[in-house]
Amino acid sequence: MVKKRACIFISGTGTNLRSIINFSRDYNFPINISLVISNNRNAEGISFAKKFSIPNKIIDQNGERFEKIAIKELKDKKIELVCLAGFMKILTKNFIRNFDGKIINIHPSLLPKYKGLNTFERAIKKREKITGCTVHWVNEKLDDGKTIIKKRVKIESGENVEELKKKVQKEEYKAYSMAIRKIYSLN
Ligand code: GRF
Repeated sequence: MVKKRACIFISGTGTNLRSIINFSRDYNFPINISLVISNNRNAEGISFAKKFSIPNKIIDQNGERFEKIAIKELKDKKIELVCLAGFMKILTKNFIRNFDGKIINIHPSLLPKYKGLNTFERAIKKREKITGCTVHWVNEKLDDGKTIIKKRVKIESGENVEELKKKVQKEEYKAYSMAIRKIYSLN
């Protein structure tokens, strides 16, 4: 199969990146990771790109400069899909329009609930029984856009943020790979 050329955007630990790298090594997985971009030079996730010799670029710059450099990199490498994975910068409308219908994101809640940060704290505080994660298309609004896959996770009573985060992240890894397969099985 001809794999699509993907770029993963990260800012931190990069465990979703690590998981996508593992899936992408499978011959039948629809994408090849052609580039990893981090907006944070201290992102631990960069080490996974290096370990697997994936081209990677640190663009530790403010909004406009970051996007200018990123857009050039994505165009030079003919990137067909951008996967935001723990990417903590909000992209501008201009950037999103440049890659319209080509950007997906993972968010640690069942959207539209708990957009933004501290999703686990907020779900526990609200005494939710169920939370989860959502992979969605990125549009011009924050944590909006059409859902591709959602995965539900039970919140046990007395569970703390770290415990819940661990459980949700385990589901995130599955959700991200399922979402990528789903996108291309529909084409
Ligand atoms: C994930 O929980 C993701 O849902 C959120 O940021 C976290 C990133 O974790 N957007 P990692 O960098 O993939 O380890």
